[in-house]
Amino acid sequence: MSQLKDEMIPYLTKEEIKDLIKRLAKEIQADYKGKELTLICCLKGSILFVADLARQLDLNVRIDFVKVSGASSGDNEEPVTNIQKDIALNMANKHVLIVEEIIDTAKTLAFLRNRLMMAGPASLKIVTLLDKPARRSVNIKPDYVGRTIEDRFVVGYGLDEDGLGRNYSDIYYLRH
Ligand code: IMP
Ligand code: MG
Repeated sequence: MSQLKDEMIPYLTKEEIKDLIKRLAKEIQADYKGKELTLICCLKGSILFVADLARQLDLNVRIDFVKVSGASSGDNEEPVTNIQKDIALNMANKHVLIVEEIIDTAKTLAFLRNRLMMAGPASLKIVTLLDKPARRSVNIKPDYVGRTIEDRFVVGYGLDEDGLGRNYSDIYYLRH
């Protein structure tokens, strides 16, 4: 049986990921100095990123989770339809930061951003570890970007191929 690992080409090591997150955390910390921050982790892909980012932030931080279903993760044109797991915290008048592991077409994010805006946050920004602007179909620019990536599929560090690979500490390109 072929394994996902046979198909993988190294892209970012865990040390490189750590450095990217340290830099992002510095930028975020400077912008939110003296404020409380609510991080919104987009399930499932952002679980590792939010855990590492949150630990680098010397701020009062809350964390909540959201899962958008029907989100496109490739070429399919399926519309983003609903929220599978909603936010539990009150977002009204809070500084909210959406935490994404990767932005591709940005359809998922556009849906989520509109939804969160309705909750009346004091501010709403986006941080993404990886940004794939080549395939953007909705005009969204993240406020904080770890690394801009060419149009290739990656796995590891939360990113999956058919549910697998999220547990790898490094990030890899897939050969196909
Ligand atoms: P978007 O709505 O097209 O921006 O979808 C973004 C979502 O698709 C991400 O949160 C990931 O779950 C998934 N995705 C996009 N590109 C990749 C990739 O290269 N590897 C793994 N998942 C990806
Ligand atoms: Mg995601």
